Amino acid sequence: MKPSTPVWHPCTQMKDHETYPIIKIDRADGIYLFDDKGNSYIDAVSSWWVNLFGHNNPRLKRALRDQLDKVEHVIFAGITHNPAEILAKDLVDITPEKLTRVFFADIGSAAVESAMKLSYGYRKNTGNEKKNRYIYLDSGYHGETLGALSVCGEQLYSELFGAIMIENIRVQGPDCYRCPFNKTRENCDAECFFHMEKAMAENKDAVTAVILEPLLQCAGGFKMYPPVYLKKLVKAAEHYNIHTIFDEIACGFGRTGTMFALEQAGVCPDFLCLSKGITSGYLPLSVVMTHEEIYDAFYDEYTTLKAFLHSHSYTGNPLACACGVETMKIFREDDVINANRKKFPVMHEYINKKFGGKPHVGEIRHLGCVSAIELVEDTSTRKSFDWKKRTGFQIFRKAIGKGAYLRNLGDIIYFMTPYIITEDEMVRLVDIAYESVYEVL
Ligand SMILES: Cc1ncc(COP(=O)(O)O)c(C=O)c1O
Repeated sequence: MKPSTPVWHPCTQMKDHETYPIIKIDRADGIYLFDDKGNSYIDAVSSWWVNLFGHNNPRLKRALRDQLDKVEHVIFAGITHNPAEILAKDLVDITPEKLTRVFFADIGSAAVESAMKLSYGYRKNTGNEKKNRYIYLDSGYHGETLGALSVCGEQLYSELFGAIMIENIRVQGPDCYRCPFNKTRENCDAECFFHMEKAMAENKDAVTAVILEPLLQCAGGFKMYPPVYLKKLVKAAEHYNIHTIFDEIACGFGRTGTMFALEQAGVCPDFLCLSKGITSGYLPLSVVMTHEEIYDAFYDEYTTLKAFLHSHSYTGNPLACACGVETMKIFREDDVINANRKKFPVMHEYINKKFGGKPHVGEIRHLGCVSAIELVEDTSTRKSFDWKKRTGFQIFRKAIGKGAYLRNLGDIIYFMTPYIITEDEMVRLVDIAYESVYEVL
């Protein structure tokens, strides 16, 4: 029977819920979600990668309440407010010096759309409008609005809508588990970059920007690749007069072990998209950061019609910005990045101990506070399971029964927990994952 709710869930085959009842969450606290039947679940995916400091966090709630007494929302065009001003300054302080301007939006996809439009807008305003295409990576993911989808390398999301999107240029990206050059992450010099270099060289007159997720491709399979790729990218992009758009929507704010992944490569993009953790997962907010040369290309008398005409109703929402300001304070006052550097290796080690060398474990990957286990049918050939078997999905369902919301990505089991998880909770979560994997397999 069809589910009785009128609610249509995103990224979900609703028919699955003929078999599996939809979970109704009543409350949440710390790393736990509690349903209306009294069950609790470890939020192993930080509620779609947004939650940094736990649910029901007193500091964030106080910041939100305080702001609620002042102003809940106001048009954000020619009007500003303290939370946005403070947050923008905080972001400028913690990102590379060159990034001096902060354009607010509301969700991650809107930041990506804005960055794409800003790049092309720059070309148009500077008389180079033939540069109107984007290069993107295989397995890259940047959201699901049509612009963002047109640079999505994950075919599962984009293929269906190919007919209604602009045609961009897809490039084979780093795939370290199945490296065609037989390199490891440790000894690699990003030999695979030649695909990108070739695409840039061949399309330099048509391409305005290249977009990618630095170091960690999340939705495309939790693929992790070394910083040398980014170094080569930024150098080549400068050479071919192509902008770089770094999408740190998922991997920013400490997920990769540094505040931003770009720090590990020592590079600065033309556009940096941020969202998700920016409010610790309390409210939707996103930004695109850029530099003076881009800003100046839109800065002129009104009648030149160079202004960036792009807006969203909830752009720069004061409540969301107040959560952002508090989030930045927590990072500073609690020295979160350093604390995580000590804490998360415990989880890495325990995952390695439990899963290392076990049947069907293709690769175990760790980067900062993120870990992923790629399960395969045959570890010697690295052959994946038949996707129709939905192995990962069965493991996810099993884990729910054991008290962990460990939503799978295909046959990849990943851990992207709130930072406040304790070492005991890490062990419990990994134990649940292990039992779930081997009960299914
Ligand atoms: C890297 C990346 N970019 C963009 C997005 C889109 O963000 P949103 O879902 O807020 O539109 C996501 C969402 O998961 C993401 O992981």
